[in-house]
Amino acid sequence: MEIEPSSTPPKKDNVKPPDGMETELSKLGNNLVTKFHVLMRISQIYDAKNVALNQFVNEFLETINRLIKENGTLSLKIIKDDFVLNDHRLRYSVEGFTSFKYLSTQWKKRLIGEVIFKALMGEEMLRHFIYAFINLEEGREENADLLKKQLESHQITSIEVNPLEIIEGEEEAFTLQKEDRREVGKKIFFETIGTIKDVITNIKGNQYADIRKLKRLAQKAIHLVIEDESILLGMTMIKNYDEYTFNHSVNVSIYSLAMGKRLGLSKKILTELGITALLHDIGKSKIPREVLNKPATLSSEEWEMMKKHPLMGVEIVLNLKQLGEINPRMVVGVFDHHLMNDLSGYPRLFLKKEVSLFGRIIQIADSYDAMTTPRIYKKIPYTPEQALAVMLREKEVHFDPLLLKIFIGLVGIYPIGSLVLLNTHELGIVYKSNHDPKWLDRPIVLLVDRDVKGDATKELIDLTDTDRAGNYKWSIAKTLDPYKYHIDIAKYFL
Ligand SMILES: [Fe+2]
Ligand SMILES: [Fe+2]
Repeated sequence: MEIEPSSTPPKKDNVKPPDGMETELSKLGNNLVTKFHVLMRISQIYDAKNVALNQFVNEFLETINRLIKENGTLSLKIIKDDFVLNDHRLRYSVEGFTSFKYLSTQWKKRLIGEVIFKALMGEEMLRHFIYAFINLEEGREENADLLKKQLESHQITSIEVNPLEIIEGEEEAFTLQKEDRREVGKKIFFETIGTIKDVITNIKGNQYADIRKLKRLAQKAIHLVIEDESILLGMTMIKNYDEYTFNHSVNVSIYSLAMGKRLGLSKKILTELGITALLHDIGKSKIPREVLNKPATLSSEEWEMMKKHPLMGVEIVLNLKQLGEINPRMVVGVFDHHLMNDLSGYPRLFLKKEVSLFGRIIQIADSYDAMTTPRIYKKIPYTPEQALAVMLREKEVHFDPLLLKIFIGLVGIYPIGSLVLLNTHELGIVYKSNHDPKWLDRPIVLLVDRDVKGDATKELIDLTDTDRAGNYKWSIAKTLDPYKYHIDIAKYFL
């Protein structure tokens, strides 16, 4: 998704386009990119010692060593979306497109911008290099250094690695990385929805449910939330009416993780919190659909059944095959999520107890998401602002006041996704909150506008911006109900 408009024309760099003299280099370069792509793919399937790799390793070696022999040192570098081989920009053919795209995405994800081969490559060396490369964690700034260190540990000093380079001012590279993160966010979001869907379906059918996959996804989400919480928080605006249960679980998990991050929880505890939040309503998988989706008020028997879902959730979690991934904190979190701060919720307790931290966090995330999502029995949901107002009224009775404060800090006074009218008479959508708490009322806003073709434009403005006289350029006049304006907020977050 393009957020920041790229108004500056691309600057000329010193990279020479291929001409007749360079055709050979260009051909070999293209060949190298294709071989690199294939090798990376294959190594993600087989381990380093597998014979299936031999052929691809040899083919890669043949191409790269020919290039190294002819050119001495060989540098393969990404500049914007292109690969540049020793200062010659490689032009890809239609057949080569997939390889270029794959390789540049993989490099960018790992924030690797250049690899320099300074001597002929050997088989062992190549295997070490390729596996160290694919095993780099996505999005880590130190990856180039880490890769270098890995290679040195195998006595490989003839390969140099450099991080993704900032070439046209920091701003652009920043945008590029942000765009990448957004792509990563989308992938995690939709993959988690798919996985929780599988888990629920399998539990319903008494089949094996893969919790480890949920754990891996929670870990990826945590990584992203720590880097930039606004990306996943924005995605909670995608309220899928038909797939409520799955979307809801993922949204509750995102809010919980963002709160947990602000509480300073460790990555280990955050992972547990993420999984607990994903599974908090798992007990509902045992409740008949007619009851879950009943458009009218529930009968007292139906309500009694509904109130059993935390307990049924505990039972399901304890029966999971991979019990090793589950610990008491998580089980209690599932049990507690409707207890309420004053224990007035359900299940009713025989003995008073403290509501667990996981339970208290999930309770807030759960209520907010439920209130702001259209349901079969409440087609027009609360606006984010209305939901917060309700929750604030119920604080202390229903919610932990301190955690609620943290939650409000997270979604802002104007929560992400609020439709607002600016003093300039423009409509905007609150896109992310400003990090400094003193600017809670001055978030980053996406202007709602259309271009000449009628497509939504995506211009972001920062409400802390001032003009020369020091006056704010924009301020929020009031919040509006998006349903009255027929604006599909979710579209702006995809
Ligand atoms: Fe629930
Ligand atoms: Fe829930």
